[in-house]
Amino acid sequence: MYKEVEDILVCPICGSKINIRKVYLKEGEEIIEGTLNCEKNHKFYIKHGIIDFHYKENKNLPNLAQFYFERDFENINLNIENKTPNNLKKFQNLSKQYMNAIVQKKKYKNILDIASGRSILLEGMAEKFSHNPNIVSLDLNFAALKYNRKKIKKINPKAKITYIACDYLNLPFKNSAFDCITSYYGFPNMAQSSPRVMQESYRILRRKGLVLDTRILVSDKDEYYNQLKSIATANMNFPNPEIVSVEQLILQIYKKIGFSEFKNEKIGESIGEFNELDIIPMQGQKFKSSVLIIKK
Ligand SMILES: C[S@@+](CC[C@H](N)C(=O)[O-])C[C@H]1O[C@@H](n2cnc3c(N)ncnc32)[C@H](O)[C@@H]1O
Ligand SMILES: [Zn+2]
Repeated sequence: MYKEVEDILVCPICGSKINIRKVYLKEGEEIIEGTLNCEKNHKFYIKHGIIDFHYKENKNLPNLAQFYFERDFENINLNIENKTPNNLKKFQNLSKQYMNAIVQKKKYKNILDIASGRSILLEGMAEKFSHNPNIVSLDLNFAALKYNRKKIKKINPKAKITYIACDYLNLPFKNSAFDCITSYYGFPNMAQSSPRVMQESYRILRRKGLVLDTRILVSDKDEYYNQLKSIATANMNFPNPEIVSVEQLILQIYKKIGFSEFKNEKIGESIGEFNELDIIPMQGQKFKSSVLIIKK
């Protein structure tokens, strides 16, 4: 954790201000082991450089024990690489480059990467900073963040990234805390919860701040969309996948929340290949890969 982030944190339990209480271990400017306390005395730990907001009294979270086990992320990454169709891989790379170019050009100081996962986007960002922003990388998976942190340290030891293990349904940040929020395939994975997290993103973004939102877009006018709906309902209890995959509906959600400007940067267009990792795009069907640029 970097001290600069202390300013924008609020307690995920009571919403009061949070302060760094104890620092047991530092590496340069980064706090590796320590504690945080809110004004109402809820206590959290910084472990292995990562803020852990899995507060034990928070009963709303699913059983998190599994997230603490060390897992073979090397193999997980390799497996995902091997199973991702080539056309998607190409679009993912282009989207990543495009998002990083915007962040570099605008020289944003405070950036949140939401649902960082395998930190694919952050690795690219860390590689070539022309400035040194404060980045927050957020994911529920503590072990994944721990792994990502080590990996990114090797790419650029100077990158100032604060890793926070917490629930995106309860973002522990003040209003207007960030200049830019990046979602690298984060929102679509949130399924039913994505509009709620988009709404929270509005709250924590400063005026004129940007959301950079990577999407795979399809048309719900085609016959096959009904098939997609039944697969999403059966597998994920998600009867309306159009709210994460149809451009007009996604933009409608952003508009309703209050965002003021919308741009769809089309990265590419192709036909879905066999893909066991995701249900969208469907095999044999047309899709677009886009970065949505949404201004508050
Ligand atoms: C498919 S990934 C998004 C892709 C990611 N940006 C990447 O570059 O790999 C979705 C991530 O959401 C995280 N996630 C799932 N539920 C969450 C929650 N309630 N709060 C925070 N993160 C969550 C998962 O741990 C996973 O890492
Ligand atoms: Zn509190």
